[in-house]
Amino acid sequence: MTDQMRRITLARRPVGQPVPEDFALQTGPVPDPGEGEVLIAVSHHSLDPYMRGRMDDAGSYAASVNLGETMVGQGVGTVLTSRADGLAAGDSVTGMTGWASHAVLKGGDLRKLDPSVPVTTALGVLGMPGFTAWRALSEYGRPKPGETLAIAAATGPVGAMVGQLAKAQGLRTVAVAGGAEKCALATEKFGFDAAIDHRAYDSASDLRKALSKACPDGIDIYWENTGGKVLEAVMPLMNTGGRIPLCGTIAWYGGGTSDKLPHIWRAILTKRLNVNGFIIFDHWHALPDFLAEITPKVAAGEITYLEDITDGLENAPDTFIAMLKGGNTGKTIIKV
Ligand SMILES: NC(=O)c1ccc[n+]([C@@H]2O[C@H](COP(=O)([O-])OP(=O)(O)OC[C@H]3O[C@@H](n4cnc5c(N)ncnc54)[C@H](OP(=O)(O)O)[C@@H]3O)[C@@H](O)[C@H]2O)c1
Repeated sequence: MTDQMRRITLARRPVGQPVPEDFALQTGPVPDPGEGEVLIAVSHHSLDPYMRGRMDDAGSYAASVNLGETMVGQGVGTVLTSRADGLAAGDSVTGMTGWASHAVLKGGDLRKLDPSVPVTTALGVLGMPGFTAWRALSEYGRPKPGETLAIAAATGPVGAMVGQLAKAQGLRTVAVAGGAEKCALATEKFGFDAAIDHRAYDSASDLRKALSKACPDGIDIYWENTGGKVLEAVMPLMNTGGRIPLCGTIAWYGGGTSDKLPHIWRAILTKRLNVNGFIIFDHWHALPDFLAEITPKVAAGEITYLEDITDGLENAPDTFIAMLKGGNTGKTIIKV
């Protein structure tokens, strides 16, 4: 065991896309847990698109990371010292460890991991992204057999789960993904009926033509992960009464906008679309139901997943920056 704690802090607020200089690697003593707390050796931590928003000072649904603070995020690891009831040294747990080698957290803020699945699944397929897909697809997508669902970032942890759940419920599933390799993964590994490479089309109208061929009956559910060109391409293809779970707009996380707002707004009106923004943290009470239903399916291989694990805490900033631009193939994880 190292006697030094390493952590990645926010060194300055990014302008547009983050760059390596926005982060700093800090080293210091390993903290001691207080009464009711637990010291964890973090084995892996998650990198998620929402963390880009936490780097800004702008008000949002969750607090910003302050300059000099450890970057926020979920991790998994092993309890080294416990002063909390119900947890003992050696337990495998998950919690909001941040981008760090160690963390001290309250016992009540940790969850013991299920030994029937690999620990890293708690960050992706059985973590916040998988739960997001499971919960919001039923709540806001309201899928019906025979309908068509389209989704971008389709091979990421949210997209892959949405695709598999929708397919299992009898929908036609159409993936939008960046590059031929991800398109092949979408159809061959995650069972999408068709996959379109958004990088192969410069304009939204060309992307729309390709999507239109893949969605001969129009689109009933557009799961919004990206905004940008994909959103502009999709809107004219939406069927009346369609649903749009508004999950994320990663194409705009580094800035940028669309000049198509009047068309998009009008399509929502004329097609009576149901657009539901949601933040998964409001749904946390349903996590036990999700884990009870999906953990056995993951353990049995009925739900498949892909992880993109990079070695070394020091590589977290570069890996995060790459993920925002599509450099990841599967759930982005740092092996600390
Ligand atoms: N509302 C909530 O509570 C909630 C919870 C979880 C996640 N989310 C959101 O869900 C979305 C997916 O999250 P995730 O963890 O599954 O991410 P992810 O797919 O692992 O990573 C992001 C992916 O976005 C795609 N992308 C980036 N820029 C793009 C662009 N301009 N156009 C199209 N695609 C682009 C890239 O995939 P390609 O290479 O395939 O383009 C990239 O790999 C994100 O927007 C995230 O913020 C929201």
